[in-house]
Amino acid sequence: MNATSPVGRAPGAEPAFLRLSRFLERRIGIVLGPEREYLAHHRLGPVLAAFGLRDLDSLVLALERQPASALLDAVIDAMTTHETLWFRDRYPFDVLTSRVLPERWLPGHHLRVWSAACSTGQEAYSLAITLEEYLQHQPRLRGATYDILGTDVSAAALAVADAGLYDAQNGVRGLSPAQLARYFERQRGGHALRPVWRRGVNFRRFNLLDDPAGLGSFDLIFLRNVLIYFQADAQQRLLERVAACLAPGATLVLGTAETLTTRHGVLAPRRLDGGVIYQRQS
Ligand SMILES: C[S@@+](CC[C@H](N)C(=O)[O-])C[C@H]1O[C@@H](n2cnc3c(N)ncnc32)[C@H](O)[C@@H]1O
Repeated sequence: MNATSPVGRAPGAEPAFLRLSRFLERRIGIVLGPEREYLAHHRLGPVLAAFGLRDLDSLVLALERQPASALLDAVIDAMTTHETLWFRDRYPFDVLTSRVLPERWLPGHHLRVWSAACSTGQEAYSLAITLEEYLQHQPRLRGATYDILGTDVSAAALAVADAGLYDAQNGVRGLSPAQLARYFERQRGGHALRPVWRRGVNFRRFNLLDDPAGLGSFDLIFLRNVLIYFQADAQQRLLERVAACLAPGATLVLGTAETLTTRHGVLAPRRLDGGVIYQRQS
């Protein structure tokens, strides 16, 4: 495949990779820098074959003609990075147990949690395990309940999340053998998460460029390792909308490489136990 092939392109038209890049930025916010051109060719090869398309030019043309389609879904699945693991970075889960939950989760309180950009579900389920185990050790929390919403723009990633079935190599990265035995049962050649860790978790497709107001209000939002793919202005808009979904006093957790560099009126950093989380001011 040759992205700059003149086949089917009018003289003077923009190269296909550039048009693809602009298209994806408009649709899902991710920016493909020029260094990603090789990656795009590599990842989109199977999509071209599956949809009987000749080259990147014809793919971009098809996307522009029919913006909501199975082809768009396949391109999104191929071009988004789904790298994730269980209890990623450890700190966010430890600080929940040591600081956030003792302050926020009171007897009878229903805790609402959003794992935004949850990829294949490891983050949402790591949260569920953390909450379940916390509940088991806190008899004072009589009547306390929770629900966790996992969202992502990639339908393929969400299908894995929803099945709760993980392969023995990549799918269970981050877990010790003891955790593997405690949280999973062997099934269909993989590891199936036990129902007790799944019962409070639901997944749905959601594009972070859309307004999340309809998802409701949350006590805790994990928005990790996705902001890095957005341009500064899109990051700013996203953070404002996400902040608006936090209840007063609720917590936002970003990825380790992500910080709030500009002012976000309602979000205040809290330096706790060697890391930073953000709290919505009342
Ligand atoms: C690197 S993964 C991060 C997964 C998890 N949050 C973690 O930290 O392990 C990034 C995820 O962001 C999703 N994503 C990218 N753009 C998105 C958008 N506009 N809306 C929702 N999800 C998006 C991708 O599909 C991918 O699953």
